[in-house]
Amino acid sequence: MQEENSVKYAERVRKIEPFRVMDIVARAAALEADGHDVVHMEVGEPDFPTPGAIVKAGQKALTAGKTKYTTAQGLPELRECISQQYMDWYGISIDPSRIFVTTGGSAALLLVTAMLLNVDEGFLMTDPGYPCNRHFLHAFEAEPQLVPVTADDHFQLTPALIERHWKDNTRGALIASPANPTGAVIARKDLEQIANAIKERNGYLVVDEIYHGLVYGDVAQDSVLSIDPSAFVVNSFSKYFGMTGWRLGWMVVPPDAVKIAEKLSQNLFICPSSVAQYAALGAFSTDAKNEMERNKAEFKKRRDFLVPALRKLGFGVPLMPEGAFYVYAKLPAGLGSSEAFAQSLLEQHHVAITPGTDFGTYLAEDYARFSYSQDLETLKKGVERITLALERNRGI
Ligand SMILES: Cc1ncc(COP(=O)(O)O)c(C=O)c1O
Repeated sequence: MQEENSVKYAERVRKIEPFRVMDIVARAAALEADGHDVVHMEVGEPDFPTPGAIVKAGQKALTAGKTKYTTAQGLPELRECISQQYMDWYGISIDPSRIFVTTGGSAALLLVTAMLLNVDEGFLMTDPGYPCNRHFLHAFEAEPQLVPVTADDHFQLTPALIERHWKDNTRGALIASPANPTGAVIARKDLEQIANAIKERNGYLVVDEIYHGLVYGDVAQDSVLSIDPSAFVVNSFSKYFGMTGWRLGWMVVPPDAVKIAEKLSQNLFICPSSVAQYAALGAFSTDAKNEMERNKAEFKKRRDFLVPALRKLGFGVPLMPEGAFYVYAKLPAGLGSSEAFAQSLLEQHHVAITPGTDFGTYLAEDYARFSYSQDLETLKKGVERITLALERNRGI
């Protein structure tokens, strides 16, 4: 048997930290296997099943033997549907030749990083932010350039922050709206300013729009492509479309990047899952859309329950999260670090949450992410258990 330490791993993997939430998911599963009832407020996926019309389209494709490779760029008919979605949602025309179907938004993020960054070059990104982004960059020996953001910045980059943090090796910015973990949406005027600030520096703007469709209330949902047609956009069938495990997403690249993106997609992935692509064709039917809109309305109800409930318990939620399905909350004083709190909450009260340390370093020990991708009853149970945990902590 080979000794574990006999493998000389590449230097680049040392910088890649574990995706902590997956460790929490694993520990929660172990507790469940021991018969405990765990409230899952850690998960980053909708609890709703994949909409029926999508499942049916997938089943039909399987029966018809649609299980072969497709072109690297993805099925033309699916790219047509995605293009139409840009027209329906934002009133913009995106040529399907610029759309690449990918293995989740994750593959799109990987491709964009591979395409745009040389070794030791970097993208500005928010801290807190989606953890894997930092690690996509490390995988290519590029440099994640973390910009601490607070509620005062609406938890997003601003022109002033771009100015302050831009370095000689900065090639652009990778931002997400709505963002994970904060749910913060960038308003159109702010997105315009960000795009201008990047343009002034001849940088690339990459916008992760994978939580589009899950924006609540009166907040407008503008694709960056309606502001800056040269931006790179990442999107996914995982969240609004409820297809996490199918592993399907897409990216939109500027026309002159199509050839490069095609070459990379061919080599790295051959193509995205064919069955998933055929299934996704069902996502654009009226039935699927109705189901997804019903799910979205549920998410809003849950957010409107959870945010006030957490605030009442002393958690700090300065901004109402406008999208996605997360609340990024400052822990009440005296609870210790977010990792210690998350661990004791899981072990003693069987509520799984994600400590802020998964999302960066800035004030991360003081924050935790609560996902509301569980039904209202379950969330209420979670809040009751958190209340109990806080009372015990305060010796009540
Ligand atoms: C902001 C953000 N981007 C990208 C992803 C990747 O998602 P997927 O690969 O399932 O599309 C996630 C998943 O949680 C996310 O939160």
